[in-house]
Amino acid sequence: MLVLGVETSCDDTAAAVLLSGRKVLANLVSSQDRIHGPYGGVVPELASRQHIRHVLPIVDAALERAGVALQDLDGIAVTRGPGLVGSLLVGLSVVKGISFRWGIPYVGVNHLEAHLVAIFLEREVPFPYIALLASGGHTLLCLVKGFGDYLYLGGTKDDAAGEAYDKVAKMMGMGYPGGRVIDEMARSGNPKAIRFPRSRMKRGRYDFSFSGLKTAVWHYLKTYGDGQPGITKADVAASFQEAVVDMLIAPTLRAARDLGVGRIVLAGGVAANSRLRGRLGNKAEEEGIETHFPAPAFCTDNAAMIALCGHYWLTQGRRDDYRLNADADLTL
Ligand code: KG4
Ligand code: ZN
Repeated sequence: MLVLGVETSCDDTAAAVLLSGRKVLANLVSSQDRIHGPYGGVVPELASRQHIRHVLPIVDAALERAGVALQDLDGIAVTRGPGLVGSLLVGLSVVKGISFRWGIPYVGVNHLEAHLVAIFLEREVPFPYIALLASGGHTLLCLVKGFGDYLYLGGTKDDAAGEAYDKVAKMMGMGYPGGRVIDEMARSGNPKAIRFPRSRMKRGRYDFSFSGLKTAVWHYLKTYGDGQPGITKADVAASFQEAVVDMLIAPTLRAARDLGVGRIVLAGGVAANSRLRGRLGNKAEEEGIETHFPAPAFCTDNAAMIALCGHYWLTQGRRDDYRLNADADLTL
């Protein structure tokens, strides 16, 4: 089965072609970072307009890269939510048009679900596993029992982990999106230089909270500028990152222990973080728990994971009709 995937839920316009549910023939992303960078965050109206400009060229480019024609496709998968409604509508409308014109079946895909199973683009992981999805819009912990079978364990009560990275990077004048720049800068910093607070949720063993940490960094920067004497900007970045990583790791390992699940899979943009991968990998190994980290290109938003998820639903016989609407608040 040959499936085209289209993703336009936020600020990346992406298209991919997937063969037999696993082999990525093309996976292209047109990033809007330069457009939103000056604002320090995504501007929804600008995002929709950019998607309109880029979606058809990127679909064409993905088909060309894969060496296939539209008529060769057996199905199309498109993100239908959650995300920015204007952005979602662009991808969904284009896919409905292609589906109607060429008579190719299509399915709307849940973006969160696609992140949770993105690891299958690279390897088969036995079920069940604990999945930590940490991105710019979401931070949640799930028990993945099988394709389409997810148990929500907990999530953030305020900011998403990636959002905390982006906001702290903005406060530190480091550009947007902040995750990758902080990750890189933190490599030369001391993660123990400043002890930022780690929030612990009184209720909700698997919940997260990042707004207190963000405020603590804000107070620190207001008090000391880029650092106290002897403390560099890289130390501030590394210390902030260490707190985020601690707060992500604790509930994840707790869930694996409590549920007796010996496998953890990371997903979402923050899963590309080198410190998170390193520390979680080591801690889990000490406890005899396996970890699986997708390649960074499959952690951040991409259309290959949408095609993978769509492939599964298409093979289950699901077909969506032209009344399907975008759902900005779609849950798992
Ligand atoms: O999954 P994603 O591409 O989009 C959403 O669905 O939100 O995630 C984007 C988020 C941004 O907040 C970005 O700062 C963060 O992922 N991110 C990182 C890294 N690379 C991207 N955060 C920490 N370390 C990274 N290396
Ligand atoms: Zn995402």
